Amino acid sequence: FPRLRKIKRVIIGSALVGGTYLGWLMYRNRNPAEQLPYDPNKKTIVILGTGWGSTTVLKNLDTENYNVVVVSPRNYFLFTPLLPSCTVGTIENRSIMESVRQLARHKQRTVTFYEAECTNIDADSKELTIERRTHSDDLQVSNERPPTAPEDIVKLKYDYLVVGVGGTVNTFGTPGVEEHACFLKEMRDARKIRRRLMDAVESASFDDISEEERDRLLHMVVVGGGPTGIEYAGELHDFLTDDLSQWYPSLAHRVRITLVEALPNVLPAFDKKLIDYTQSTFSENKITILTHTMVKEVKDKSFVVQNADGSRSEIPYGLLVWATGIKAQPIVNRIREQYPQVQTNGRGLLVDEHLRVKGAKDIWALGDCALSGYAPLAQVASQQGKWLARRLNNLGSVASQQSREGKEFDIFAAIEEEKPFKYSSQGSLAYIGSEKAIADLPLFNRNITAGGLATFWFWKSAYLNELFSLRNSTLVASDWIKRFFFGRDISRE
Ligand code: NAI
Repeated sequence: FPRLRKIKRVIIGSALVGGTYLGWLMYRNRNPAEQLPYDPNKKTIVILGTGWGSTTVLKNLDTENYNVVVVSPRNYFLFTPLLPSCTVGTIENRSIMESVRQLARHKQRTVTFYEAECTNIDADSKELTIERRTHSDDLQVSNERPPTAPEDIVKLKYDYLVVGVGGTVNTFGTPGVEEHACFLKEMRDARKIRRRLMDAVESASFDDISEEERDRLLHMVVVGGGPTGIEYAGELHDFLTDDLSQWYPSLAHRVRITLVEALPNVLPAFDKKLIDYTQSTFSENKITILTHTMVKEVKDKSFVVQNADGSRSEIPYGLLVWATGIKAQPIVNRIREQYPQVQTNGRGLLVDEHLRVKGAKDIWALGDCALSGYAPLAQVASQQGKWLARRLNNLGSVASQQSREGKEFDIFAAIEEEKPFKYSSQGSLAYIGSEKAIADLPLFNRNITAGGLATFWFWKSAYLNELFSLRNSTLVASDWIKRFFFGRDISRE
């Protein structure tokens, strides 16, 4: 069979080429090339943040023409779409984290990284105040932290500033949320949810507690019917049916999951068909959805809701996850205060179509902290990051050429001549539990909606493809295989 022999040769040949390429990628990953040193003749770009927007800028920025400094209280990039999977151990935490130093070490010129939070900006003198966060575990709720010691406050100069600091959890000032609820924004939130969940289940397994207390402990509540709340509820359901039912047979059937949403339906940004599909899947999975219900207060063992008819009721819970969206970070408000005439929207930094902060000079903003007319999505931030890095690369070469000729070149003004940023939607995907996902995809000028098992496999492959590095994709794929064969780990930590 000569044809079969030919196919065999092609397969072996491709495997050899593929294997060699993979080997080379891994070698380069572990052995990065020498880097160019800091150059005092080049302009310095300071990038604030290590989220989707800022990390994409760093990844795509050509450091030939700039010195780059990154400032962030978190020294890693977090692949947030898979964070709900970490709360129940479908995926290990480190599989979706990528060190920013790893990324920086592969740039052509040395990139400086400071694990710090930018707390102020003096736009006139182009100076930032950054506060060291190397020994602090609390990276998010700034107003609850004790004042920073003077030796931990550092000043930093910039020529150009890229603000990609994302948002912080929005509690809408609801009493008790910060004290008693778990958020789902950072990796430490996922860890906390897992600890609280296992604590609640272990506490419920004692014989000497009342049945009422057992039911309270086993009532898991999710507040917010956006994609975050839906995906978390779906993952929790899987953990319950796949794992808790095996290892806690007398308790699992008593676990209840309730999702509370203030609006008339969940997932308001999705197509009506997908909303119905999600609601019917949740109903099959015995997840209760309370719509038209607004959480008014969270106590340590119960929460108060306002129902559709205006009445109030108090519901006991064992774990409460708060997923009601985001608001502006404190540094965003500091920047806004410098331009009170134009920065009039409290939700973030108003930017023009070239992502320049309105009213400011030499400051760009992108991602969730920028109000650019697009939804606060990872996809938007990532496309903005690519767009900005490419523009800075083009203009950086011109600026270097001009500087060799002794001329100044204003990149901030020159970017105006470039094609403005335009978001191209790749669609929305969300996991809804029991191996089902929903997708809202723009195809051939139409929106195609899909839900079910096939969409779940599409969801998996899309996320594998989007992960930031080969290492992350390998780890996530192996976590999925590990879960398939061995189930999820139920240890508390
Ligand atoms: P969200 O803003 O989309 O949803 C929050 C929900 O909480 C809203 O529906 C709101 O009505 C509800 N809510 C607010 N306060 C409440 C209260 N006191 N009681 C009851 N319900 C209350 O927030 P989410 O899910 O965190 O998403 C943030 C952004 O990230 C969105 O733009 C979302 O589209 C995007 N995202 C997209 C994902 C995807 O496409 N797979 C995954 C995660 C986030």
